[in-house]
Amino acid sequence: MKISILFVDDDKDVIDGYKRMLFSMKKEWEQYYALSGEEALKILEENKIDVIVSDMKMPGMDGTELLGKVKELYPRILRIILSGHQDEIKIINTTTLAHQFLLKPCDTNQIKSVIEDAFSLRTNLENEKLMSIINGIGQLPAIPELYLEIERMMNSQDVSLAIVSKLISKDPAITAKILQTVNSAFFGLPRRVSSLIDALSFLGTNTIKSIILYLQSFASANYPPETRAYCEEVGRHSLMVALTAKEIGKIENKDKQMLDDIYIAGILHDIGKIILMQVPGYYNKMSILNSTGTRNSIDIEYQLLGVSHEWVGAYLLGIWGLPKTVIEAIAFHHSPGKVNESEVTALSILHVANAFVNYKGEKFAGNELDVDFSYLGNLDLLTKLEFWWESTKKFSEPDNE
Ligand SMILES: [Fe+2]
Ligand SMILES: [Fe+2]
Repeated sequence: MKISILFVDDDKDVIDGYKRMLFSMKKEWEQYYALSGEEALKILEENKIDVIVSDMKMPGMDGTELLGKVKELYPRILRIILSGHQDEIKIINTTTLAHQFLLKPCDTNQIKSVIEDAFSLRTNLENEKLMSIINGIGQLPAIPELYLEIERMMNSQDVSLAIVSKLISKDPAITAKILQTVNSAFFGLPRRVSSLIDALSFLGTNTIKSIILYLQSFASANYPPETRAYCEEVGRHSLMVALTAKEIGKIENKDKQMLDDIYIAGILHDIGKIILMQVPGYYNKMSILNSTGTRNSIDIEYQLLGVSHEWVGAYLLGIWGLPKTVIEAIAFHHSPGKVNESEVTALSILHVANAFVNYKGEKFAGNELDVDFSYLGNLDLLTKLEFWWESTKKFSEPDNE
């Protein structure tokens, strides 16, 4: 299938440059060019576009306005900003307006690799069944505003814990929930924390930010009452997976950025299950099939819907503009072997952490884990499993309420 791409820039020389540069891609890409936001919208109306690559500063409708419209009218289009200014990218980076950001000048190979990367997932996401389920749901949950605000704040120069905690405490309900969550045995804090500032300094702003994402994504109040207990259960499981995965990441000496990605991936890996609760009648049918206890959730999802929760989740997080590492880890957490990897990544760690949390045995029995053994074997990880399990089982013990 040919990918169709629309380039938007008010500078005719830049557009001519693209045309020359991408001439060799004529076979692979259907290319469209627009000199203004207005012209771009017209092209979008008349053609099926997969990717939009837009400049930011343009007279009339600027890039922000254009991408905002694209996001609303054509949420499936991959949005890329190609900007000449580092600063602009910084500002935009904290919003969900674009999925990717490139800095000018940018060569063909860079554009090519960004688009190919994005489409390696997109082909799976464009699955017809998935699209019909997503379209049927209508309103997908939005990324929590408070999460974005903290992110924006953290990207600015001098942000102190006091400022972040002041922002969060404007919302007393979420503050109470954060304190309750961090004081649960999961986090193993040395003492009970009673203020946000303490919570922030013990756990760090990134962890708190993820907890907000967690609390608001699993806010069961938004779902049909009969599904609440189930949503809460998925939420608990997700938190355990996040903590387990982050611990494995630490053992593997992963850097801070990677640990944050792993944690977020853990928290959100099963969010697709929550979204599926909005498909009419699905919960009841699923619980009947589930009650026999002999089928796994993916089989049931395929039988009832023709898609499974990882892809529903990955689709949502793509719209939220979360990092590719996170989306990829989530999309493949039950089938990591489909991704070609040569080292331990967020995906491999998430795959194992999920199996650990689901494993109900008292003693470690590697062969009973629900993991892809040949995938882990190729990465030379089988010998590490027992040590990882011993070091993380505290997160999934039953009394850990
Ligand atoms: Fe899952
Ligand atoms: Fe899971």
